[in-house]
Amino acid sequence: MRTQVAIIGAGPSGLILGALLHKAGIDNVILEQRSGDYVLSRIRAGVLEQVCVDLLDEAGVGERMHKEGLPHDGFDMVFAGERRRIDLFGLTGKRVMVYGQTEVTRDLMDHRATIGRPTVYEAENVRIHDFDGDKPWVTYTHAGREERLDCDFIAGCDGFHGVCRASVPARAITHHEKVYPFGWLGLLADVPPVHHELIYGHTERGFMLASMRSHTRVRYYIQCGLHEKVEDWSDEAFYDEFRRRLPAEDAARLITGPSIEKSIAPLRSFVGEPLRFGRLFLAGDAGHIVPPTGAKGLNLAASDVALLARGLVEHYAERSSAGLDDYSRRALARIWKAERFSWWFTQLMHLFPETGSFGLKMQMAELDYLFSSESAQRVVAENYVGLPI
Ligand code: APR
Ligand code: PHB
Repeated sequence: MRTQVAIIGAGPSGLILGALLHKAGIDNVILEQRSGDYVLSRIRAGVLEQVCVDLLDEAGVGERMHKEGLPHDGFDMVFAGERRRIDLFGLTGKRVMVYGQTEVTRDLMDHRATIGRPTVYEAENVRIHDFDGDKPWVTYTHAGREERLDCDFIAGCDGFHGVCRASVPARAITHHEKVYPFGWLGLLADVPPVHHELIYGHTERGFMLASMRSHTRVRYYIQCGLHEKVEDWSDEAFYDEFRRRLPAEDAARLITGPSIEKSIAPLRSFVGEPLRFGRLFLAGDAGHIVPPTGAKGLNLAASDVALLARGLVEHYAERSSAGLDDYSRRALARIWKAERFSWWFTQLMHLFPETGSFGLKMQMAELDYLFSSESAQRVVAENYVGLPI
């Protein structure tokens, strides 16, 4: 088989890239190691920046998002019994869209099925070859048969544990990493949200986040220890702990119901530099990871592939390599700013017992300042709604 762009991974990065390239008439094939159902079973964040919304529209997959997504103009922050609304719209003129990554992925998969470009699910043992030369190629096994895909470019959209970044020689890439000493225990349930906007809380029992997927589905999180096991958390135990971390007025009206999903996610900041190696380009989680505080993961994946798609369109339509040559630098400029915001928001809102009373006082002083300064709130709002691509 031959194609122009071989895309490895059918997560949001790979699927959005495939849709943007299709729109520009560029042939592409997606190779995904898992099944479509497995990809859809992964629960991830659900807050889309305006630039991400625009991009999904541009890719032709925004219809259901506009019908079912919830535009949010602000969110609440809580600490030490104080509560402040960050007025996203008032401070920036922009809002965010609350719409789960699972739904984004489903829309992208449906779109892909209608345009008829190939996606090979359950492609095993994917290997990438000769990406430092002019004629890269990819091998994989599908339904017991060895296959070969020749291409002009390889887009590594295969997530943090994928094969693409791992195939780059160690001397060609620098890794920057921070691992946090806690995780998030998340619960998904079909009950009405406790509040009409998101609540991020710093409490003496640890961080809490009340998020949602719709008017009838919630996603709630609590900070937990890294070695805790999800099996040890009954729904009742989760809700008891979550209620204790909620502001009293919300705790009193919390509606609980059986979980549909419950999982623990570790928190990590990671960037690999650069993102281009000859004819191989890394995008999304393959190149970088953010802790979920602020929900930047999917948004960064979208801005990466927007830049990559532009570069590829320039290459094919205008015979110019300028966009591709500049991809890594431009993507990383935005990635590092989102890394900074996600790291800052994580540092501010979680309990770090090892930093002692001084660390806690620093967090309290920063929150106190933030609550009293419109300029500080604008900085938060500007980053939360997303910086320009
Ligand atoms: N061969 C083929 N496919 C692979 C391989 C491989 N060797 N390794 C991983 N994959 C697939 C995974 O199964 C997954 O479906 O690549 C896909 C990568 O998808 P994601 O992990 O969702 O990464 P990405 O598309 O970059 O999306 C980033 O997802 O992880 C969240 O918070 C993150 O919201 C962000 C978004
Ligand atoms: C979520 O809904 O899963 C979510 C929302 C906001 C975040 C992180 C996760 O900052």
